[in-house]
Amino acid sequence: MVIAIDGPAGAGKSTVARGVAEALGLTYLDSGAMYRSVALAALRRGIDPHDAEALGGLARGLEIGFDDDAVRLDGEDVSDRIRTPEVGEAASRVATHPEVRDAMVARQRSLIDRGGYVAEGRDIGTVVSTDAPLKVFLTASDEERARRRAAETGEPLERVVEEQGRRDARDTEREHGALRPATDAVEVDTTGLGVGEVVDRIVDLARRRGLA
Ligand code: CDP
Repeated sequence: MVIAIDGPAGAGKSTVARGVAEALGLTYLDSGAMYRSVALAALRRGIDPHDAEALGGLARGLEIGFDDDAVRLDGEDVSDRIRTPEVGEAASRVATHPEVRDAMVARQRSLIDRGGYVAEGRDIGTVVSTDAPLKVFLTASDEERARRRAAETGEPLERVVEEQGRRDARDTEREHGALRPATDAVEVDTTGLGVGEVVDRIVDLARRRGLA
């Protein structure tokens, strides 16, 4: 069983999904961390971001795991290394290739099949788990999303706005696993809302649907 939380960068998915998982005693799944791990491995190996075949082979062969809050890539703790703006940019590029997406989606499904999850990403409700009993699409204004990201990474706001625009375009315009709300998703605009309020709202939705 999975509660799906999709949305663009900076909408608050990670913090909110963690909070919902904790409140409901479910496991948190950060699907973006998987694409980031593939990107980090590709950067380290010097693989061309357009080489779909090489990236697909890489994505299928890597061992990507989560233990507590740590992300492990072939056993190495890469939790911090995958959070750089460079890896974020590379992740949004490698994530355009169906060869990479298929490998990640298969892994996500096999995790979800084994337990109760709150999974966040771009395509959880539209591709990974189309029968999820609760799908949430989190948004926030462009300005607020950029402000949050700048505060997190320490980058100048103007640069974040530019990068965000490029990544949003790539995420929404790609052919496979494009970012869009599932037809049965509940849209929640987090602009001006605190994390606690958003978590409470989703927990309430989950309870009303008999998921907790
Ligand atoms: O934290 P942020 O939202 O910036 O990024 P993330 O969720 O860690 O995802 C990094 C990149 O991976 C995104 O820009 C997406 O292009 C890609 N991604 C994806 O394609 N599908 C997912 N389910 C999750 C992430």
